[in-house]
Amino acid sequence: MKYNQVKDKLLASPKTWLVTGVAGFIGSNLLEALLLLDQTVIGLDNFSTGHQHNLDAVKDVASEKQWERFQFVQGDICNYDTCKSVLRNVDYVLHQAALGSVPRSIENPINTNASNISGFLNMLTAAKEQDVSSFIYAASSSTYGDHPDLPKVEDKIGNPLSPYAVTKYVNELYADVFYRTYDFKSVGLRYFNVFGPRQDPEGAYAAVIPKWVAAVNASDTVYINGDGETSRDFCYIENVVQINILAATAENLTKSEVYNVAVGGQTSLNQLIELIKENLRKNTFTDIVYKDFRAGDVRHSKASIDKAIRELGYDPQFNMNQGLGKLLN
Ligand SMILES: NC(=O)c1ccc[n+]([C@@H]2O[C@H](COP(=O)([O-])OP(=O)(O)OC[C@H]3O[C@@H](n4cnc5c(N)ncnc54)[C@H](O)[C@@H]3O)[C@@H](O)[C@H]2O)c1
Repeated sequence: MKYNQVKDKLLASPKTWLVTGVAGFIGSNLLEALLLLDQTVIGLDNFSTGHQHNLDAVKDVASEKQWERFQFVQGDICNYDTCKSVLRNVDYVLHQAALGSVPRSIENPINTNASNISGFLNMLTAAKEQDVSSFIYAASSSTYGDHPDLPKVEDKIGNPLSPYAVTKYVNELYADVFYRTYDFKSVGLRYFNVFGPRQDPEGAYAAVIPKWVAAVNASDTVYINGDGETSRDFCYIENVVQINILAATAENLTKSEVYNVAVGGQTSLNQLIELIKENLRKNTFTDIVYKDFRAGDVRHSKASIDKAIRELGYDPQFNMNQGLGKLLN
């Protein structure tokens, strides 16, 4: 079904959604889209990397009535009882809660493992027990690891290059085994580098786009890891919102599936910094310093999005440039 038709159907017959990681970047954007569609949303977050100000920003754009349909629970997915309690009477689950960042996982693999594997298994098990209509989870392009092929297609993966990548791959293995052993179907969305409003520019583990936008705006030095020819398939958040809603409402799933979520583009870091400067109209001198390559980073990334187009009706509305333009203007 086309995205507009799906949205009309949801407006006519609203559902109850659980968004974990709701105070984070992607979670808060999902919350916003769902509330604007008059859905009921339960949100779970432990504020480990998420922020109250992300929830406040959604409150500002939702009507009073829409905001009343949101219930926030502060809690941890590492606690099984918490997972069980937030899943009561939920139709669709969008599981986003996890500790992101490759370098964070190299610094502290135990923490990353707890949220990303034990927490994930808690959510998956509780969702199965609750017999929810669909369970959609944030997977990752890091699962492609050292596989050399471009574009990346879902069934050809290499060895993981970081603890973070291991955790995201283990999610997929559990999801597949839950289908084989319990007939519980789920969808993993392998996000490539997502960007958009409310992405945190602060801290050692900030993603490249918000970090560089903040640096260029403040006329600070921009640090590039490696030679700048490392490439990514940057994906604007609205495409990610679309595919989450399409996946949750899909009726043709016959087993657990994974889908690439990107736009099928490839932008190098050197190109990215020029695009950011152009969009911010800061064509003046920006001090760029090249550092060592970062451990655990995949060198090149570009997705095939054919499977998502074919099976979910994914129709990304923003390529990298359009997304960056929307974000920065
Ligand atoms: N942003 C990207 O480019 C990208 C790429 C691939 C995959 N992902 C995945 O998408 C999801 C969302 O990422 P994001 O960019 O919005 O990150 P984010 O850090 O902004 O959001 C994650 C949210 O999960 C919460 N959280 C973490 N551990 C938790 C726990 N144990 N219990 C409850 N809440 C917990 C955090 O407080 C935060 O609000 C993550 O699973 C991430 O691994 C993101």
